[in-house]
Amino acid sequence: MIVEKELAELAADIAREAGELALRRRDEGVQLAATKSSLADIVTEADREVEALIRGRLQEARPGDGFLGEESDADPGETGVTWVVDPIDGTVNYAYGIPAYAVSIAAVQGEAVPGRWQALAGAVYAPAHGELFTASRGGGAHRGAQRLAVTTETPAGALLATGFGYDPATHDGDLATVRRVMAIARDLRRAGSAALDLAYVAAGRLDGYFERGLKPWDFAAGALLVAEAGGAVSRLDAASARPMLIAGGPEVHDRLTALLTEEA
Ligand code: IPD
Repeated sequence: MIVEKELAELAADIAREAGELALRRRDEGVQLAATKSSLADIVTEADREVEALIRGRLQEARPGDGFLGEESDADPGETGVTWVVDPIDGTVNYAYGIPAYAVSIAAVQGEAVPGRWQALAGAVYAPAHGELFTASRGGGAHRGAQRLAVTTETPAGALLATGFGYDPATHDGDLATVRRVMAIARDLRRAGSAALDLAYVAAGRLDGYFERGLKPWDFAAGALLVAEAGGAVSRLDAASARPMLIAGGPEVHDRLTALLTEEA
């Protein structure tokens, strides 16, 4: 039997350990390991080392589960549960010494494809802030021991967040999207970590979030946090190369969806 709370506790324990490793490596100085899809899309030695630690710990605790991570090969496993992992979400912040980065670990059931999986548990840990966000299916979302709830009212307009893809060819389109959503915004943030943006929506620190082209590990844990905090999460154009993730309190989510569905 799958016990979501136990999966969330495991994710939280490993995320903390992994986050402390990332923090230590950051203090020692960041080594760039490679660039990926574009010059701006970087991976550090720490990303790889932290992912290896997470993978090893999960393997010890739950042999047979699948694994889908940002920096290493996927393994479908044989239990029907897959761990979707971003060892350091916000790698560019990490490389520059900006504290907005996080370890993101989610357990999902079913096919390990966004839209087809069922998220069971998740943890997002921001080591430079010492903040741990956790969620389990049906068990709510929490920051430490505090239960989280999304915002429901935005009298002065919505505080929104977004992100931009690494491919410069996508910037014009993403900026056109920003222009469109500013109609309902109080202001806009671009903090550099999708996992933290989603955790902040869950915590009521942001009213809504939207971004095209996220990878599964960027949002697997964060999307469950938002849903378990009473928010709504959806993906527009799911079959396209750059689906649009929208998250927020129910009303902001719906207003964003309406604005972005009109998109040319
Ligand atoms: C990135 C961050 C960023 C988002 C990018 C992601 P990474 O993840 O979440 O906020 O705008 O789309 O790729 O590369 O730092 O793990």
